[in-house]
Amino acid sequence: MNIYDNPKLKIDSKKEVNGTVGWKSPSNIALIKYWGKYGNQLPLNPSISFTLSQAYTQTTIEYKQKKKDNGKIDLDFYFEGKLKPDFARRINKYFKNLKEIFPFITQLKLEIHSDNSFPHSSGIASSASSMSSLALSLCSIERNIFDTEISTKEFFEKASFIARLGSGSACRSVYPKAALWGHTEKIPESSNYFAIPVKKHLHDNFRKFHDDILIVSKNAKSKSSSDGHAIMSSHRFKDGRILQANKRLYFLLNALKSGDFETFGEIVENEAFTLHGLMMSSSPAYVLMEPNTLNIINQIKTFRKNTKIPAFFSLDAGPNVHLLYPDAYSIQVQKFIDDNLVRFCKDGDYIKDYMGTGPKELDF
Ligand code: DP6
Repeated sequence: MNIYDNPKLKIDSKKEVNGTVGWKSPSNIALIKYWGKYGNQLPLNPSISFTLSQAYTQTTIEYKQKKKDNGKIDLDFYFEGKLKPDFARRINKYFKNLKEIFPFITQLKLEIHSDNSFPHSSGIASSASSMSSLALSLCSIERNIFDTEISTKEFFEKASFIARLGSGSACRSVYPKAALWGHTEKIPESSNYFAIPVKKHLHDNFRKFHDDILIVSKNAKSKSSSDGHAIMSSHRFKDGRILQANKRLYFLLNALKSGDFETFGEIVENEAFTLHGLMMSSSPAYVLMEPNTLNIINQIKTFRKNTKIPAFFSLDAGPNVHLLYPDAYSIQVQKFIDDNLVRFCKDGDYIKDYMGTGPKELDF
C-alpha cells in the first residue's frame, strides 16, 4: 500500500479523454551519494544533490482513452524519434507498479517520446532526467483528466515519489537548485519516499554553481548502478557508510547555509572517493575509475592549491569527472579546462553544465 494509492482515479467510461502533456527535466549531481537501497526503492542513506540544467530529458506523452480497459499497460516508446521496444518493456514494468496510484493508466493508450539534450554515447547516466520527466508527465495527465486540486508543493512531492519508483536519483531532479532525499534525524521534513527542496538553505556562494562534466569514457559501464546498489546490502562497510552519510549530510547542509567552500569541498570530494571505495571493497569488487579519471582529479587538486580557487571534483558511478565551482571563477576555470583537462577527455569532450531552475512543463 502506497500513500498515493487512489482507486478513485478511474476515468468515467462516458467521457472521451485524450491530450498531450510533457516535461523537460534535468539530471542532477549528488554531493552526498545515494548508494544502496531496500524495500521498494528506499535509500539506505540520505543524499543531497545539485539540480543541473544542460543535461536534460524532454518527454511528451500523448494519451487517448482506449475503447475498453483491459487492465493492461498499452504504450509505444520513441527515443530520439525511433521506436524502442526494449525501453518500452522497462517502462511497461515501471507503469505496472503504478497501477494503484494511477488506476487510469490501463484505460489509456500512450505514445511516449523522449529526447536527451546530451548525446546517447556520452557516458552520461540519464535515468534521473528521463525518469523525472516521465513521472512529472504522469502527474500532469492525472491533473488534466481529474482536475486534481493540489498545491504546487504537493504536485512536486508526488512527482518526486513517482520518479523515485523509476530511479532513486530521479526523485531529486524535480526541484530547482538542490534537493535532499532520505530520512535523516536532524531534518524532520526529510523522507525516504520523496525528495524535498533545499534551495532556501543555500548561501549566495552556492546559488550559481557550475558542474562541467569531463567525459573520460563514452563506453557503457561495466556494472550498472542498480547492480552496485544491490551489492551494498551485504557490504561489510554498510553500517559505517549509513552513519557516515547521515553525519556528513548535516555538516554539508551547514556548509551550504554558511557559504563554507572548504567544508563543502572536503565532504564532496571524499564522498566521490567513498562511493568508488565502496565499489572497490565490495564483493565482487570492481573499479569504474580509469587512468584519466585520476589524471583529471590530480590536475584539479593542483589547480586549487596554486590558485586558491574553490574548484572541486565529484564522480558518479562511472569514470567521468564532475568539476564543481562557483560562477565567479568561471573564466579562470574555463582556461584551466582548456589548457590542462581537455587532453584527458575522450575526443576532447566535456559538457558545460550548471545549477538549474528545475523541470519545466511543456505547452501544448
Ligand atoms: C552514484 O538512481 O541510478 O549516482 O535507483 O537503481 O535507478 P536506481 O539507481 P540510480 O543510482 C544513482 C547512484 C549515484 C549516486 C546518486 O545519484 O545519489
